[in-house]
Amino acid sequence: MDFKKSLKERKILFEQNLKSFMPDEEGLCKTLYESMNYSLKAGGKRLRPILLLETYKLFGGKESERIMPFAAAIEMIHTYSLIHDDLPSMDDDDLRRGKPTNHKIYGEGIAVLAGDGLLNEAFEIMVKASLNLDDKESALMAMNHICEGSGTKGMIAGQVVDLESENKDINIDVLKYIHENKTGKLILKPMLAGAVLAGASKGEIDNVKTYAKNIGQAFQVMDDILDIVGDQDKLGKNIGSDEENNKATYPSLFGLEKSKEIANELIEDAKLSLKKLNKEDEFLLNLADYIVNRDY
Ligand code: IPE
Ligand code: IPE
Ligand code: MG
Ligand code: MG
Ligand code: MG
Repeated sequence: MDFKKSLKERKILFEQNLKSFMPDEEGLCKTLYESMNYSLKAGGKRLRPILLLETYKLFGGKESERIMPFAAAIEMIHTYSLIHDDLPSMDDDDLRRGKPTNHKIYGEGIAVLAGDGLLNEAFEIMVKASLNLDDKESALMAMNHICEGSGTKGMIAGQVVDLESENKDINIDVLKYIHENKTGKLILKPMLAGAVLAGASKGEIDNVKTYAKNIGQAFQVMDDILDIVGDQDKLGKNIGSDEENNKATYPSLFGLEKSKEIANELIEDAKLSLKKLNKEDEFLLNLADYIVNRDY
């Protein structure tokens, strides 16, 4: 399998679909819609919607277009989290997805509201799609996963502890909590949403959890590593941001080499758990490797 090609094809297909969920840039509130679309259109790896769609297929889900609204919704939630993460009151960053951050173009007030808008839009899209799906219970369960992932016991919780840990010596348990929540939950929960939308059994869902949790943790360990050794042009975001903000990260606790080892171990375990599912999905196995080998 040419993994890079497969990843690109999935990204293009998703982006074609995403367009249809973006607000029209018209009316008195036009600036808000422009600002939301600015960040949505800027690019990014589209990892979370791809994971949702792949997990759906892994468990035999058919006609992926049916669940595209859930994929669009998770990308909107992720994009909102990035807009807010970059604000001066949070990480104070100027570059995102290769472009000036949302608040640099639209100002802080509109950037906050664009984030709020994307979050709300995500749930509107999922509710409307659920009303049209025959299996409303699965749709509600999927939405529940996404609510939990983005919510106050998910991404938001991780971001709070991340902020409160700046300039502090924290232990590994706190660091794991930050990673598991700020990043891990928005990787785990879309996968679980994809699984329930495909009608996966509880046992199958438990097995895919280990894969999802491990790649989520490894993803953030690599993000922390790339913040030190990455190439700003490739990453499309400023490097050195963590050190500047005195963030708690894997490299700050363990050094670069050990952090890379930890990320590799997480990925090996992720692949083992996927194999246990007796579904040797080539794309998801390759994707696990890509998480630790990526340079953007
Ligand atoms: C960045 O996520 C934020 C983290 C959780 C580390 P991505 O690296 O997936 O960002 P995009 O979507 O590709 O821009
Ligand atoms: C942020 O982690 C995770 C989010 C919930 C947005 P980072 O602050 O490390 O993400 P980047 O490096 O700015 O993309
Ligand atoms: Mg941050
Ligand atoms: Mg940041
Ligand atoms: Mg980072």
